[in-house]
Amino acid sequence: MRLEVQSGQGAYSVDLGDPLEDAVGSLLGAPSVIVVDERVAELYGIALAPLFAIHPHISLPALESEKSFEGVQRVLAFLQDTNSTKRTTLIAIGGGIIQDIASFAAHVYYRGIPWVFLPSTLLAMTDSCIGAKCAINFRGFKNQVGAFHAPSRVVLTTDFLPTLSDLDILSGYGEILKLMLTKGEEAFESLVRVVSKQGFRGTHAGDLLLRCLKVKRGIIEQDEYELGLRKILNFGHTFGHALEGATDYAVPHGIAVAWGVDLANYISSNRGGLEKECFEKVHRFLAKDFLTRVAVRPDPADIFARLKRDKKVRDGKVQLILMWKPGDLRIVPTDLDQRLEDEILSYVEFAVRPEGGPR
Ligand SMILES: NC(=O)c1ccc[n+]([C@@H]2O[C@H](COP(=O)([O-])OP(=O)(O)OC[C@H]3O[C@@H](n4cnc5c(N)ncnc54)[C@H](O)[C@@H]3O)[C@@H](O)[C@H]2O)c1
Ligand SMILES: [Zn+2]
Repeated sequence: MRLEVQSGQGAYSVDLGDPLEDAVGSLLGAPSVIVVDERVAELYGIALAPLFAIHPHISLPALESEKSFEGVQRVLAFLQDTNSTKRTTLIAIGGGIIQDIASFAAHVYYRGIPWVFLPSTLLAMTDSCIGAKCAINFRGFKNQVGAFHAPSRVVLTTDFLPTLSDLDILSGYGEILKLMLTKGEEAFESLVRVVSKQGFRGTHAGDLLLRCLKVKRGIIEQDEYELGLRKILNFGHTFGHALEGATDYAVPHGIAVAWGVDLANYISSNRGGLEKECFEKVHRFLAKDFLTRVAVRPDPADIFARLKRDKKVRDGKVQLILMWKPGDLRIVPTDLDQRLEDEILSYVEFAVRPEGGPR
């Protein structure tokens, strides 16, 4: 099946549901070079062999440290070494890290060459593969340098999912939860239902991808360049990025986002936005599987210090995305004051309580 995404840079299609063999077959045509996650190249070497046989490839480790100017330079050198031209398509195969490095390099090489994405993680399939954002980390801070560079095509196959670690599956669900809370009550409830029935590795993946991509498409088609509405997709990210930086990326992105969603909800509930009952409902969903995966206890003072350096600080206020109820998310300019620092401290103490449940 095919989903079309409208973009100011040209509409692109997302093909879903084909086996890996067909996905590979569909990428053999145009003159291309490949940037592939080294682990994916190792695990799926046989299935990807027809691509590697005709297109030059470079393997990179999927590390946040590689999502940097150094990683981008490696890809640019590879593009130059392979005599890539403005008509060469860069095929990225991997998760969000490989996507960010490859699409950033595709954006700047010769002022922009086309790129195609074959995502291999749940997070990349459900969230990052559409929307055209790319960013790299800079000087210990997350996603500081970036651009918008839409793919010319995305090819999704769930055949990659079985080899993902439980932690990386959960990380995908961090962004899925965010998308469902953006959509509304029923979307959130149905996610909780399906997970409680089938677990995180049930047979619902294909259906879930489609639902997530439709939710995200509904937002990015209205506001691709994040001038307004799209900001709500940063729900959980201000705190999540601070947590990733503060723990030196020991916490995977989607888990950090889930933690950030819970903290944002804690603050919203504390300030009279979100009803306590709703905070507790979402917290219960997160407590057992997500919050226990935040292996390093974050230092609240470090988290607070990082908020001050956030991209979204304006006139001394951080632009928090807070939820009033599922489907009703608001941009709330928030003073970086003692009150906020105290709330972060009390949330960290609350969330790491041994029994993990709500108060
Ligand atoms: N550009 C965007 O719009 C956007 C959106 C969301 C997140 N991101 C970024 O994406 C990154 C996170 O990406 P991610 O969660 O997709 O993971 P990832 O790219 O970090 O990969 C996670 C791990 O899974 C491994 N892996 C990948 N595919 C596999 C497979 N099929 N089987 C086994 N192992 C596999 C990788 O080698 C790595 O160890 C973060 O840097 C985040 O900031 C970008
Ligand atoms: Zn994200």
